[in-house]
Amino acid sequence: MASSLDAHLSSECGSDPLKRQVADTIRNLCSASVKLRNKIIAGGEGMGNAHGATNAGGDVQKELDVVADKVFLEAAEASPIAFFGSEEQDEAVALKLDAPLALAIDPLDGSSNIETNVSIGTIFSILPVGDEHRGDPASVFRQKGSVQLGAGFFVYGPQLLLVMSMGNGTHVFIFSPSFGGFVELKSSLVLLDKAKEFAINASNYRHWDQPIRSYVDDLLAGSEGPRERDFNMRWIASMVADCYRILLRGGIFLYPGDGRKGYAKGRLRLVYEANPIAFCVENAGGLATDGTTRILDIVPEGLHDRTPLVFGSKREVERVARYIADPSALAERSPLFGKRSLFRA
Ligand code: F6P
Repeated sequence: MASSLDAHLSSECGSDPLKRQVADTIRNLCSASVKLRNKIIAGGEGMGNAHGATNAGGDVQKELDVVADKVFLEAAEASPIAFFGSEEQDEAVALKLDAPLALAIDPLDGSSNIETNVSIGTIFSILPVGDEHRGDPASVFRQKGSVQLGAGFFVYGPQLLLVMSMGNGTHVFIFSPSFGGFVELKSSLVLLDKAKEFAINASNYRHWDQPIRSYVDDLLAGSEGPRERDFNMRWIASMVADCYRILLRGGIFLYPGDGRKGYAKGRLRLVYEANPIAFCVENAGGLATDGTTRILDIVPEGLHDRTPLVFGSKREVERVARYIADPSALAERSPLFGKRSLFRA
């Protein structure tokens, strides 16, 4: 029988007291994810309806966003968490001020997909609260992603999955109703270096900067273009689902900044979306950047900062950085391929 998440967490922690608290927090998040999964399965009218408010980022809140926020706040209250920073709340909530950890969370990722019965998720990041951050929710969420003690995401799809890392590989667990908990599905994922698929919302093509257009043009040109091979495209619009697919079979995800009002840094949030995804991707041997800079090295200015995000197979993410940072790479492209692009007028 597959080993349980509980056994995995215990073996990762050894006798390290801080890691044990991280593990306890992950256990509580798992219980919360099962509660949320049960609510999703039960369905009910109105889960995907607008709640009547917007969240800190200006997105319209759905009923299920609000339910998810409450369920995960309760999990944080039961954990050694000093501050709970959620996408759904303007300010971080202070909990146990002498506790050693802070939790940043997107309680319901991909909420535009709720009513369509497509996979959605929860993304979390567990940060240390050192003495320098004690009592200061603003500075605790201004730490770089590289200091995360644990991070991961749940996928509410045909299966309830947990993808998580405590810095020692990225592992996948599946909720087993018969077992009554999570059991290991895949241990120590290895993200393929060569990408065959890309994920981007191509409807924003006209708003992108030239390097991103050129990169996508070259993918689309396939075997007749400079890449000399064909690529497939997927866009689920639930980052957790796109990320899980990429972890399993390689590929690249891009949500760049673009010319739309309010989208200069794209759509995704650094602290509770990009950082935990980057932590899982890097721990599986992949890479995550804002186009050029490693996500985990960016110092956030605040809990709700946005960042452009490119993650996936390392070589492919590095290639995007060359398109952005090295104009000579662009000049070397044959103009023929640009003209051939499906997206050119
Ligand atoms: O808000 C986060 C998110 O829903 C991601 O899960 C997803 O990748 C992205 O937004 C979809 O954005 P868009 O609707 O602009 O394609």
